[in-house]
Amino acid sequence: MRGQQIRRTEGELCANLTKLKSATLGPGATSMDRTSNQRSLVDSVLASFESTPDARLRKIMRSLVEHLHQLVAEVHLSHEEWRKGIEFLTAVGKKCTPERQEFMLLSDVLGISSAVDVANDMHPEATPGTVLGPYYIADSPQRSNGASLIDTDDGGLHLRVRGVVSDVSGNPIPGARVDVWSCASNGLYPAQDPAQAPTNLRGLMVADRQGRFEFTVLRPHNYSIPMDGPVGELMRSTLRSPMRAAHVHLIVSAAGYHGVTTHLFDSECNYLSADSVFSTREQLVRKFSKDGTGQLTATFDVRLMELDPL
Ligand code: BEZ
Ligand code: FE
Repeated sequence: MRGQQIRRTEGELCANLTKLKSATLGPGATSMDRTSNQRSLVDSVLASFESTPDARLRKIMRSLVEHLHQLVAEVHLSHEEWRKGIEFLTAVGKKCTPERQEFMLLSDVLGISSAVDVANDMHPEATPGTVLGPYYIADSPQRSNGASLIDTDDGGLHLRVRGVVSDVSGNPIPGARVDVWSCASNGLYPAQDPAQAPTNLRGLMVADRQGRFEFTVLRPHNYSIPMDGPVGELMRSTLRSPMRAAHVHLIVSAAGYHGVTTHLFDSECNYLSADSVFSTREQLVRKFSKDGTGQLTATFDVRLMELDPL
């Protein structure tokens, strides 16, 4: 069966190549010749993936081939532009280290990371996901629920965050895990700033029996994404702003539920509608306001979607 499929695919390939060769090329080529050659070529490439045993991989490769070829045809990509593109992707790869993921950053600034988040939205009532970003460090320090995560106080405003973790119907999830990381008032994370303790503004806490959690951080500031690599060059050459809207990061998880990687955004930040990684989502924006004691506070409830029963 598989052998037959492969033979058929090879047959299709040959037929497409013959069509391609027989079409008129060069300066005399009409746009109809070119379109028909492009289609034959795409069909040959598509046929070459038809025997992929994994149906999902086959589907993804089909779509990738269609879209990339469409781009080349649509912009009439020159050899020089294609070479520059290869050089750019090579530079992106060379910039990657265990600590620096330039491909992820490229995905972020192209909005692809956020597109994957949107594609994987669980439920209209579930808290939406956002980019993880490069500053998450696993093994966050354990903190008691209600603790301050400020290990290095830079004199900025303190922000108390309070919330409840519940399911999509609002039933609290006792013992949910809330992992937080945030930047200091200068917009830098501890890994970027030797003046901060490595644990500064990081912490993993467990929600109480009513799903409630509470912590204090410094009011986050907007900041620039890393601009010292090829993605930075792309941002400059396209006159894109590198700024991220001010936010606190959270990963919230609980047994039996889909976890969520998300942000709490400051409604007063000027970059909310111009976030360089397109991660702002309306449901995640909160007004920070002073409570009766003068403490700046934000309420951020998180709703998780139940896992499908096995
Ligand atoms: C961040 O929020 O930490 C971040 C996300 C994407 C790119 C750069 C930084
Ligand atoms: Fe961040």
